[in-house]
Amino acid sequence: MDFLQYVNIGHSGLNASAIGLGLMRVTKKSDADAAQLVATAIDHGINFFDNADAYGQGKAEEKFGAALKIAAIPRDRMVIQTKVGIVDKRYDFSKEHIIEAVNGSLERMGVDYIDSLLLHRPDPLMEPDEIAEAFLQLHNQGKVRQFGVSNFNPMQVALVQQALPMKLIANQLQLSIMHTGMIDFGMHTNMTDSHSVDHDGGILEYSRLHDMTIQAWSPYQYGFFEGVFIDNPKFPELNRKLHDIAAKYGSNVNALAAAWILRIPANMQVIVGTMNPERLAEIADIDRIKLTRQEWYDIYFAAGNNLP
Ligand SMILES: NC(=O)c1ccc[n+]([C@@H]2O[C@H](COP(=O)([O-])OP(=O)(O)OC[C@H]3O[C@@H](n4cnc5c(N)ncnc54)[C@H](OP(=O)(O)O)[C@@H]3O)[C@@H](O)[C@H]2O)c1
Repeated sequence: MDFLQYVNIGHSGLNASAIGLGLMRVTKKSDADAAQLVATAIDHGINFFDNADAYGQGKAEEKFGAALKIAAIPRDRMVIQTKVGIVDKRYDFSKEHIIEAVNGSLERMGVDYIDSLLLHRPDPLMEPDEIAEAFLQLHNQGKVRQFGVSNFNPMQVALVQQALPMKLIANQLQLSIMHTGMIDFGMHTNMTDSHSVDHDGGILEYSRLHDMTIQAWSPYQYGFFEGVFIDNPKFPELNRKLHDIAAKYGSNVNALAAAWILRIPANMQVIVGTMNPERLAEIADIDRIKLTRQEWYDIYFAAGNNLP
């Protein structure tokens, strides 16, 4: 095992690897290949698995369930997260839907409980008291241990949180070297350039203040699923810098791009979506990278950013 960096998610006591395996793309794998991927994750200390009922309309959870049967990994060695709330390209946070959807997720994955359940995308029709009733019921029935959100701004988090008896532990948000809105804005306060635009209401600082783990999704993508920036000829300066720094640490650029996110002292996780066991093993080779402040900023600048 060569990767041992763990995170206490939202300081809830849920201990998970800082690198999580996202399963959004798992539907294209055979059951056996999916099992091999899950086993590779576990072999490299990656015990955190992120799914959603919306991925492949349930098929990603089904595939993960099939993989778990083959890989036969003891349930208590894994931290399993899934998400709820997306229905046919709209959102539904009603009590009935949350409860029914979780029952479906449990069945598809073939597990008795979910470690962490996230509300997938904010629903303007949400009624916090209804969400609270659903969460409490699921928690009391032993079906879900912890709760969080995804793609929420601070006011939306606060709106749900004030109705809940339990603390929200995580917010899953898009963040990569090439998608840094939550960072840029904090450094361009009161300026008039494009980096000063507040896209998310200060979610980075809010999450730190409220002990919520940010789970960075699509850590290797630029734009909204436009493509991978690693070794992409569109970004020569960034890739030169990444290769130089990765070589210095005797590691690789995939691990470095994850380490850059984890260098932000916010108790973060990085949710990677590779379906390639070799690439997953490369990403897990992260612990030898100890980025200096200068290196962190050098990568930020090489990605095309500036400071006031
Ligand atoms: N909460 C949300 O709204 C939300 C939205 C999107 C995603 N997510 C979560 O985040 C997870 C990760 O998302 P993602 O799959 O977009 O993340 P990603 O890790 O940025 O992208 C992975 C994809 O990039 C490809 N890739 C090509 N070259 C690569 C390289 N050098 N390094 C790494 N990957 C390379 C991978 O292909 P190979 O398989 O060939 O490696 C794979 O198809 C998802 O599985 C899901 O769990 C959450």
